[in-house]
Amino acid sequence: MSTVATLTNHQIRLAARPVGIPTRANWQSASEAVPETPEGGVLLKTLALSLDPAMRGWMNEGKSYIPPVGIGEVMRAGGVGKVIASKNSKYAVGDHVSATFGVQEYLTLAEADFKRNGLVKIDLKVGSLTQWLNVLGMPGMTGYFGLMDVGQPKAGETVVVSGAAGAVGQTVGQIAKIKGCRVVGIAGGAAKCEWVVKELGFDACIDYKAGPGAVRAGLKEHCPKGVDIYFDNVGGEILDDVLAKITRGARIIICGAISQYNNTTPIQGPKNYLSLLVNRARMEGIVVFDYADRYHLAVAEMAGYLKDGRMKSKEDVVKGLDTFPEALIKLFTGENFGKLVLQVAED
Ligand SMILES: NC(=O)c1ccc[n+]([C@@H]2O[C@H](COP(=O)([O-])OP(=O)(O)OC[C@H]3O[C@@H](n4cnc5c(N)ncnc54)[C@H](OP(=O)(O)O)[C@@H]3O)[C@@H](O)[C@H]2O)c1
Repeated sequence: MSTVATLTNHQIRLAARPVGIPTRANWQSASEAVPETPEGGVLLKTLALSLDPAMRGWMNEGKSYIPPVGIGEVMRAGGVGKVIASKNSKYAVGDHVSATFGVQEYLTLAEADFKRNGLVKIDLKVGSLTQWLNVLGMPGMTGYFGLMDVGQPKAGETVVVSGAAGAVGQTVGQIAKIKGCRVVGIAGGAAKCEWVVKELGFDACIDYKAGPGAVRAGLKEHCPKGVDIYFDNVGGEILDDVLAKITRGARIIICGAISQYNNTTPIQGPKNYLSLLVNRARMEGIVVFDYADRYHLAVAEMAGYLKDGRMKSKEDVVKGLDTFPEALIKLFTGENFGKLVLQVAED
């Protein structure tokens, strides 16, 4: 077995800012020796990384809710892993943790950086490693707080969620069902639509890839009383189609706009926005990190649903740090089915 002094840390660094869909040329493989663990710090081994659509935004120059990844820096990524060396009494070797690991095999953290890196222990009795990246992790928190705090669902209301078979979407739809809403998903392809209805219990799902006008026709059929809450993960034309069907006092949660992330022309904003005026409706953005001090409450609630079988959690696991550049693209082609996770090492 190798000692810390002989461990090599393989990494993926950002080599160049992409135009459109990222390619291999935007990345650079690197390796460096794992440094000594500082006093009060820990050495973590990466087990699995969360691949997120937001990564595309972090590759761009410019101001956002979080600074861009610099050229030459290790790509930012949330993940789960294990403590393999500790000089901190709060963390023992063998503890499982969640943190911003970066796309690399090891992370050495000084105590002063624990909070900034979101280091927290995770309990594998509550959920599996991959569930801690999905419904119990960042996407689950996004779905939970976006729906509950911004959407404020009431039993009997109609909730529409796009990206329905994805990480955030599956959480949103299942919580909305638990809260007594009628839930209509929007997803790409028959297989995903069938899964959200049959396995997750959504009332209906619209296949937006079924042809021109499919979303409009699907909303007409499945939302006869209109849309009270729209949880928007995709933006673009689908947002416009839903805007045309909202009810008075509707709430639209702007969570993401994945249809626009690789645009090489300016982002398409909503054309039907006057529907907000007519319907006295509101559209509000959400950034999950704002809810960090309440994550534990949502985790406790969702862990209960997982345990009693009211909630399912589907992850799509790809393997190997070096596959990161190709794996990331799956989010933008829709090849992922469930939360996309990159397994870096066996536990
Ligand atoms: N605001 C926040 O704090 C926050 C936090 C987390 C995530 N997000 C956002 O939430 C959204 C979902 O993220 P996720 O992690 O749950 O990803 P995901 O849904 O698991 O994966 C992305 C999915 O987006 C769909 N998609 C890709 N291109 C599309 C297009 N042109 N039109 C419509 N759908 C398209 C694909 O599904 P189909 O096969 O169905 O097309 C793909 O599987 C993203 O917009 C992300 O940026 C926001």
